[in-house]
Amino acid sequence: MTQNEALRPSLDAAVEDYRGYAGLRPLAGLLNMKEAIGKGLTVNESVERIKRIHWSLKRLHYALAAHIPSTPVYELKMAFSLHAHYCAEHVGEFAKRVREMRQPPYGLEMAPDPALDQFLDEVLGARSTPALLLGLYDKAFPALIRALDHLMTDTNRLFDHPTYRICRFTLLEMREAEEYGREAIRCLVKDTDREALGAWLAALDRLLAAAGDMDGREAKSGETVERIFSAAPYKYDPVPRRDERFIDPYNMGVNAEALLFDPETDPLPKTIMLYFKRMREIDVPEMMSSILAEESGKPWEYYQDMTRQLWDEARHAMMGEVGFVSLGVDWTKIPFNFTWSLGLNTMLTAKERHAVLFTIEQGLMPRKNGKEHEWEIGVATADPLTARIQDYDWADEVLHARIGKDWLVPQLGTQVEAMAFGDRAWTKILVDWKKWKEDGLTEHRNWWPEIYRAACRHWQTEPDEKLLQYNKTYENARADLKEVAAG
Ligand SMILES: [Fe+2]
Ligand SMILES: [Fe+2]
Ligand SMILES: [Fe+2]
Repeated sequence: MTQNEALRPSLDAAVEDYRGYAGLRPLAGLLNMKEAIGKGLTVNESVERIKRIHWSLKRLHYALAAHIPSTPVYELKMAFSLHAHYCAEHVGEFAKRVREMRQPPYGLEMAPDPALDQFLDEVLGARSTPALLLGLYDKAFPALIRALDHLMTDTNRLFDHPTYRICRFTLLEMREAEEYGREAIRCLVKDTDREALGAWLAALDRLLAAAGDMDGREAKSGETVERIFSAAPYKYDPVPRRDERFIDPYNMGVNAEALLFDPETDPLPKTIMLYFKRMREIDVPEMMSSILAEESGKPWEYYQDMTRQLWDEARHAMMGEVGFVSLGVDWTKIPFNFTWSLGLNTMLTAKERHAVLFTIEQGLMPRKNGKEHEWEIGVATADPLTARIQDYDWADEVLHARIGKDWLVPQLGTQVEAMAFGDRAWTKILVDWKKWKEDGLTEHRNWWPEIYRAACRHWQTEPDEKLLQYNKTYENARADLKEVAAG
């Protein structure tokens, strides 16, 4: 027995029992002395795993954002907006951590593993809602959660604390996303869907095995897996689709702004138009998706900012939904047209779309008929929910104006030039009110009296006869149309 071995048991015990001054936990309480001595990854190993997590988050962000218009179910559009926002936020943190530890080139723009990349191609290429949900929430998010979990367990919390910390916060949001996704699978994916997708789901597992799992921690199977959904190059689908609760999508029969900003009308009935305008904002995430999908090569902060705004717009739509539920009004009786996102997504370039959005949002800044005015109406209704909806709807525009100034204006010169560019682009999407009617796409039915009556039952008031006659449409309302959607 060497002298060292003889000392061993007492050294182990000393390590085990090691405490700080007056019994304080050492090492800032992050880990015990035994772990600090005994475990950890090399910087290379840590960076390799971070780069794989970074790449996966980045590609999942794209997949989530890209499927917002073409996925019909409204709740999924909203959830994809949130999960895309989560991914976008964390991509930046992992990239930053690589730059903290390594000199350029960082290799952040390259796929870290061809099998992993093929796995992500397949998820992006999913052709149906069940496939997309299973790819994302039954395969990709669980693999991402495993990768984060393992990195936190395997790395030394003292030596690699910044990595540990970003994994921990990322995990929190990825788990939330995965939980929502699992429930969505339970609600929307039938056993027959799963069966029909069996070969594809098995291929996803085989791709992860070929990559040694998302983080490359396992031995790589080395198998070559045939491409299925990604056999043909991915093609972004910009056409917005809505589920069957969204009726009459070309209906432009009720001019919300004309009633909202009419000084002769009482504030309370205007609540309906405020909620309508909020919920109609579904079309902004549908439209911003196409900017994110088609603008490549920008700094990550661009995608991060734009995705944050996309999520804000989704929140505004949901605020409108909350409003209608609070009134006991069945919002499925109201047509929320999709003509704005359809027109922009199919007829303009990404830069033009961003400029139209910027022009509209700048138009909402002045007091008259802008966000402040809407908030005043909200306050005047004496309903705290309506006031709160408008308060935050207005506040979010402060950030959105900044995002436009940071990213769009420098591309187009000055603010005035950017707005003029947006205005010109907007004229290309002239709303063909009459033609939609002639083509049988819509009757532009006046939904106002029915919804106003329903709200009056909730308010326990008699409908005002004159207000029941309200019948202004968006025909000949080009100026008002500027406010449609993005407000
Ligand atoms: Fe906005
Ligand atoms: Fe908005
Ligand atoms: Fe809004």
